[in-house]
Amino acid sequence: MNIEACPKIELHLHLEGAAPPHFIRQIAAEKHEDIGGILAANGDYKFSDFRHFLKVYEAATSVLTSPDDFYRLTREVLQHSASQGVIYTEVFLSPDFCGGCDVTAWQEYLAAIEQAAAQSEPEFGIVAKGIVTCIRHFGPDQARKAARCAAETAGDFIVGFGMGGDELQGKQGDFAYGFDMAREAQLHLTTHAGEWGGAESVRQAVFDLKVERIGHGVQVIDDPALIEELVARQITLEVCPGSNVALGVYPTLDAHPVNDLRSAGVKTTISTDDPPFFHTTLGQEYRQLADTFGWTSKDFIALNKTAAEAAFCSAETRQSLLERLEKT
Ligand code: ADE
Ligand code: ZN
Repeated sequence: MNIEACPKIELHLHLEGAAPPHFIRQIAAEKHEDIGGILAANGDYKFSDFRHFLKVYEAATSVLTSPDDFYRLTREVLQHSASQGVIYTEVFLSPDFCGGCDVTAWQEYLAAIEQAAAQSEPEFGIVAKGIVTCIRHFGPDQARKAARCAAETAGDFIVGFGMGGDELQGKQGDFAYGFDMAREAQLHLTTHAGEWGGAESVRQAVFDLKVERIGHGVQVIDDPALIEELVARQITLEVCPGSNVALGVYPTLDAHPVNDLRSAGVKTTISTDDPPFFHTTLGQEYRQLADTFGWTSKDFIALNKTAAEAAFCSAETRQSLLERLEKT
């Protein structure tokens, strides 16, 4: 099977987390900023654990200070995704990193990101939509500001609201106000849960935030009753196996529950999260899943159909994605 050529749908990709280190280095050099502390001698990002990863991520992101930086980043990221066969991607965008959650500044950054996405669609053959994301360890008040940015810009491009960051700080329900605001603005909802916070965090995401999808969600494997609940509610997991192994949630792909979750009937999709940080690509994820679990092209087509069904896009876009997958 030619995994590179197989059309792919990615539902969980952080825009800043997809910035290659060479791109961040270039922008830093243009601004005469020193980012040596976050890079290893070979030029890769350098971190030791999840909390350190978040710090390095924020340090790298801090060199992106203008709408034009985000225009360039979006072009770079979408071109790379398209090279992996990605035809549709949902990208997490953080108003916190785009003018500090000020609505006017956010609108300017978003206009640049949207312009880059619109140009990339015919040029690289990839459709992109945005999910505004609050950062959990910045707290519920800041999350409310991010939700306001999301609500003010909901539409054809901004289709969802979500939460990333340090899952071990606070509870999912602490952020219900922001999620309610986003829901009222007709946005779809997802949150990182069950990456670090156990099955209990997934339970809170389902019952306290009422999300339709869950970022990671893999630790639900420890709670069979909750697995049944996810199946019954048709909640889709945005599983990022390479991210989980790189950050030490699981020691190896062999030990990762993605195959068992699929077998249990949980709607499962595959994404890369922050690919240059984790030395991965979507093509590499597919290849390793094929090697480890024996997944075939039939499995990957089924996974991508699940992703098309769970995408936060319009019915017309979903239909055209399903037709495209039908032809493979
Ligand atoms: N932000 C970027 N990557 C993340 C991850 N894996 N978990 C939580 N927040 C994130
Ligand atoms: Zn993530």
